[in-house]
Amino acid sequence: MSSFTVTPATKPLMGAASIPGDKSIGHRALLFGALADGEVLIRGLSGGQDNHRSRQAMADMGVSVEDLPTGQVRVRGVGLRGLRAPSQVIDCGNSGTTMRLLAGLLCAQSFDSQLSGDASLSQRPMMRVAGPLMDMGAHLRGASGKVADEMYPPLFIGGLGQKRLRAIRYEQSVASAQVKSAILLAGLFAEGATEVVEPAQSRNHTELMLAHMGAPLVVDGASIRVDPSGWDGKLKAGPVTVPGDPSSAAFLLAAGLVAGVERLSVREVCVNRRRTGFLDVLAAFGALVEMESLSTGPGDPVADLVITRGAGDGLRATTVSGELTVRSLDEVPILAILAARAEGVTHFEDGEELRVKESDRIATTCEMLKRLGVEVEERKAGFSVQGLAGRPFQACEVHAHGDHRIAMSAVIAGLGANGPVRVHDVDNVATSFPSFVDTLSRLGAELSVD
Ligand code: S3P
Repeated sequence: MSSFTVTPATKPLMGAASIPGDKSIGHRALLFGALADGEVLIRGLSGGQDNHRSRQAMADMGVSVEDLPTGQVRVRGVGLRGLRAPSQVIDCGNSGTTMRLLAGLLCAQSFDSQLSGDASLSQRPMMRVAGPLMDMGAHLRGASGKVADEMYPPLFIGGLGQKRLRAIRYEQSVASAQVKSAILLAGLFAEGATEVVEPAQSRNHTELMLAHMGAPLVVDGASIRVDPSGWDGKLKAGPVTVPGDPSSAAFLLAAGLVAGVERLSVREVCVNRRRTGFLDVLAAFGALVEMESLSTGPGDPVADLVITRGAGDGLRATTVSGELTVRSLDEVPILAILAARAEGVTHFEDGEELRVKESDRIATTCEMLKRLGVEVEERKAGFSVQGLAGRPFQACEVHAHGDHRIAMSAVIAGLGANGPVRVHDVDNVATSFPSFVDTLSRLGAELSVD
């Protein structure tokens, strides 16, 4: 188990950074590419372990996925019904998205399959996805665990043989892109029109990519319908460019806001509005992030995100709640670090989902903040952060509990601490941002790994 040690920044950060391709889009490019009718060339796929799990899963089911000398990844789609039964258990590692999306895809196949995960993923609830899929007629079994009537990995998925799933209309009680995507994927194979209604707008990469590939999918406000009746069952092959991951960009921008910057830019970031809630929170804190070279093509909008000198001065507390929480859910740990740099008390609300991420992120974020000398008040669905009013973070040791985003958040705090911050259990940073240490070092931060 590795640790990071970061020393307080003595000079402003500077430079232009590239980040890994968006993890969410990468998973979808691999899974949907495998189902396409022909070859899909993916440019910009992240080298992170999470995407690698999706890639390996498709290879386990007979799909050829190759690295080309150009840096692109070539997926030779086998068609909607071309997957082969895996000869072994599919290991989803730390990746909840791999497991939940695959649950939707595999429960519609004729063959049996089994999905497992690491210790963290094995603690994550699966009934949210298994429940609606079983309503569609899927055969799913899992393990029991800490909550009665919940379902935990490993998941055993019984093949349907010649039978088909039946369509459902599903009103989600909690916004979740993973659950929505699993149901829509299953819906592609079902009899009739499957509809998912969202209570708030979660990320929409599944809808955008499937529609682009010619799937019979219609979005109407909060409702997404997929109706394969009369469809030829062909997903069009074509190139996919994966833009930079905004969730990774958030750490670099926060680093600049904590350490100070001359000018720091993060290149070619996906700025799909459903992913950029953190930019709205930064604006509410009073931190100015500019978008340069914005391009809007057929896929997601992409831009360089830039901060310049003084961007992190005079931050003010704010409240993050409702739809804004959904649009910045993965960024809450790093936003909590910035909240500690702001004047006043920042409230994070409506984040119950944070309890079931790679760690219980309300608990692990609060624990991290306390170690850093910040006063916090923890609640069931959120927490409040008392700003340090100009004081630095306290030098300390933080346990990341295997959560990549807690590990990276604690490192960023260390740039603004009164002595070294040591962060333990950081290996999972490689799930989303394998180049984190190098990238941050190139911008001028001092950190070591041991
Ligand atoms: C993801 C959806 C989100 C997010 C996760 C990736 C996806 O989870 O937290 O990191 O790629 O669909 P929810 O399904 O809870 O929205």
